[in-house]
Amino acid sequence: MINVLEDVFTDEKQASSLLFQEAESVIPGGVTANIKHFSPHPIFMKKGYGSKLIDVDNTEYIDYSLCYGALITGHGHSRITEATIQQIQQSGTIIFGTPHELEITMAKKIKALYPSMEQTRFTNSGTESILLAIRLAIAYTNKSKIGKFEGHYHGGLNEMLVSVNPSEELAGDDKTPNTVMESAGIPTEQQHQTIILPFNDLEASEKILREHQDELAAIILEPIQGGFIPANKEFIQGLKELTDELNIVLIFDEVKTGFRVALGGAQSVYQIKPDLTTLGKVLGGGMPVGAVGGKRDIMMQSAANSQGDVFNIGNKSDQTTDIVFHSGTYNGHPMVLRAGLETIRLLEEKHVLDILFSHTKLLRNRLETLYASYQIDMQTIGMGSIFNLVFTKEPVHNYRDMWKANTDLRKEIDTELLNLGVYLKPLNRYSMSIAHTLEDIDKTVKAHEKAIKQVLHR
Ligand SMILES: Cc1ncc(COP(=O)(O)O)c(C=O)c1O
Repeated sequence: MINVLEDVFTDEKQASSLLFQEAESVIPGGVTANIKHFSPHPIFMKKGYGSKLIDVDNTEYIDYSLCYGALITGHGHSRITEATIQQIQQSGTIIFGTPHELEITMAKKIKALYPSMEQTRFTNSGTESILLAIRLAIAYTNKSKIGKFEGHYHGGLNEMLVSVNPSEELAGDDKTPNTVMESAGIPTEQQHQTIILPFNDLEASEKILREHQDELAAIILEPIQGGFIPANKEFIQGLKELTDELNIVLIFDEVKTGFRVALGGAQSVYQIKPDLTTLGKVLGGGMPVGAVGGKRDIMMQSAANSQGDVFNIGNKSDQTTDIVFHSGTYNGHPMVLRAGLETIRLLEEKHVLDILFSHTKLLRNRLETLYASYQIDMQTIGMGSIFNLVFTKEPVHNYRDMWKANTDLRKEIDTELLNLGVYLKPLNRYSMSIAHTLEDIDKTVKAHEKAIKQVLHR
């Protein structure tokens, strides 16, 4: 008999369990990114193709994680693989360590799709792109605090690891949320560098912005929270007007939403030009990447010149504080840019995104119909190729609305789905790829029905 409150795998997943024990002996918690952890233990994969992953116990899964959204073309798309291999063969090296033409091609491609990104710098991750965006904003405004919305995730920087998932007990008033630390090891002083704002509440946000206008260098937000809760049009438009008026840099973090909710990201849907944008995930076609781009005069602060080079050790006259430092051994990696460019070119082809979006809609509709037929309150929320299953009938506009959802039920269903060959980290959002077929959708809906029956049976 299965204990309802424990996450269990009915088929044991023995090889994964053994590898996890081995991993735990040399890797803290057995995982190299905390997000990869879940109970009873993460599943170790050994192969991927199209929409599928195969684990070390030889179980096949339809993958809805897709490396947390990065793999919009699915696993091992031949065009991406070939482009990447060709890049090494043609250039004769993996990386030049110098400027190269692909950097220009990609920066131009980004500018064409995201006109707000007049100039772009590349990084190796979303986190690094946020680091640069914040530094640029602080230099530009000569102010030092950052506004961040409750429930939004912006990578692993100290000042962004606050109020991502605060408890009800610590979160404070909904109009003036507390800044709640989300990690050990962060100096407590740093807590005061970030001011927390309530998402989709323009009146309360305006009050906070006006009160802190002289300190706030920037506000950063996921225009679609967690990739699935959209900002209201009036809210996001209001933020744009307020930040312009108060000399606060507006940063859209489109690491999740870039290329996924539309080719031009959420900003093309809302028709808003943020001052700075951060991209990642899809931009690298599965390779490690990030980018920050925006208004020329903000971006130009990072422009290198020969008067201020932090690496000119021994040069007594260097004035490095005139320039926003940005460097990185692997920035603009040619293989990464080639994989990313090929991904974007594929997505630009006729009907590719339309089909992906209509497949996503079909899966969402079928799941909603299925859960309704079992009298379970469940709605799908999302845009484009991303969505989430939220177990409540109540409207969901922000982080606190998610507290109304039945996450215990969701977690049970998700664990059952892992037993039934549907891969998603429990409680995470669904990302679809162009490799997902109608047959995958059919199998996924059937797996959900089995999972519902198993859970209700208990
Ligand atoms: C909105 C958002 N910003 C930043 C990041 C951090 O990106 P990375 O994991 O590439 O550092 C993520 C990662 O999931 C993200 O979703």
